[in-house]
Amino acid sequence: MSISSFLTKKFLKSLFFPAHNRGTALPKKLVKLLQNPPGYWDLPELPEIGSPLSHNGLIAKSQREFSDKFKAKGCFFGVNGASGLIQSAVIAMANPGETILMPRNVHISVIKTCAMQNINPIFFDLEFSKETGHYKPLTKIWLGNVFKKLNFDENKIVGIILVSPSYHGYAGDLKPLIDYCHQKNLPVLVDEAHGSYFLFCENLNLPKPALSSNADLVVHSLHKSLNGLTQTAVLWYKGNLINERNLIDSINLLQTTSPSSLLLSSCEESIKDWLNKKSLSIYQKRILEAKNIQKKLIQKNIPLVETQDPLKIVVNTSKVGIDGFTADNFFYKNGLIAELPEMMTLTFCLGFANQKDFPDLFEKLWNKLLLNSKKSQKLEVLQSPFRLVQAPEIEIGIAWRSETRSIPFSQSLNKISGDIICPYPPGIPLLVPGEKIDKDRFNWINNQSLCNKDLVNFNIRVIEI
Ligand SMILES: Cc1ncc(COP(=O)(O)O)c(C=O)c1O
Repeated sequence: MSISSFLTKKFLKSLFFPAHNRGTALPKKLVKLLQNPPGYWDLPELPEIGSPLSHNGLIAKSQREFSDKFKAKGCFFGVNGASGLIQSAVIAMANPGETILMPRNVHISVIKTCAMQNINPIFFDLEFSKETGHYKPLTKIWLGNVFKKLNFDENKIVGIILVSPSYHGYAGDLKPLIDYCHQKNLPVLVDEAHGSYFLFCENLNLPKPALSSNADLVVHSLHKSLNGLTQTAVLWYKGNLINERNLIDSINLLQTTSPSSLLLSSCEESIKDWLNKKSLSIYQKRILEAKNIQKKLIQKNIPLVETQDPLKIVVNTSKVGIDGFTADNFFYKNGLIAELPEMMTLTFCLGFANQKDFPDLFEKLWNKLLLNSKKSQKLEVLQSPFRLVQAPEIEIGIAWRSETRSIPFSQSLNKISGDIICPYPPGIPLLVPGEKIDKDRFNWINNQSLCNKDLVNFNIRVIEI
């Protein structure tokens, strides 16, 4: 079967990204554009359109309007996902040899940039739930303990990254965290890939968005948490801690010379659609419906995990002795396609289409799953093996470029990794280049791989010492 034939395959229900749910919730104007003869709209960077870095043209005009609306200094559309814009933001924040502080649940795009640019990550651990295997949101007390452990002068720490909300939708209160970082003179990049829509719904009792919480740089994945096409994203910047010239140069460094006009139009339309009163009211209705869907599922005794994002349905399958991968397999075979299987949980993304039929459909399949599945031995995630504050044993850029040898992971105990180990989704590295695979890390990665077929019998590049 070709890719193109697969793309029209029907599923009973698609509860994965992109959040426009297979076109159902695409902005009307984009739908109209796509109804033109195929490819008609695929234009190059004509002067009337410009590019995200042009001063003139339609893109520049929209970017200016949007940043004025949200009191940002500026914003840039991106066509290489939130990943591409996060990478530019990281490069704008730190020079080679400098250090960025980041949580253990940072996205892999950050790690790749650190390796590429010789930027040194210092990781801080996060509180962790044994019930779900998920990291909990960061609190100011926790961050205070992290700061106490650090020597800011010695380490040339030039910025901090926060991830909020997480893939599952956990989010804390960003404003006090950002204020605290600013007291330390640290610019803050918030990876809000999963929370773009918070910006338009300050009336719905959702987490306060990063931009209104005074973050210096914010990256949104428009296909994950708004109704953009896959790969669409936007980066916002604010305040005086980030050098504007550096930011523009960093975007220029990584941006394609031929950005897709369709994707750029999708960036624009997805944001415009949420600024339009009529369509906004429909999306806000969807969010309220999502809250109701959560309530209904709880009433039906489905073991849901509470997060701050109503659009994420996180089911704690381990509560009924079934791991998330087995459950995912079952739902997939029955046409209900989820987003993120993990050992203890399975996460579905409602997106912005009408999903009112989901609770009944889910209940039926859930009961079938309970009847048909062999319950596992007691599922247990190991406590994460990280110190509160920890840097790789060898600088990440050096480790990445070192001579390595590929060996089975089972033989890697006490070796230094030259590799990134990172299951996707969720794209959170378990090990980065330069880190030692000590006994705790070795056991923890083995535990993580118990149900995850991607992590079984894999090879790893280790550094020749
Ligand atoms: C927290 C987080 N940040 C950034 C990204 C990258 O987003 P994109 O797929 O738009 O490049 C992801 C993707 O999974 C993510 O989960």
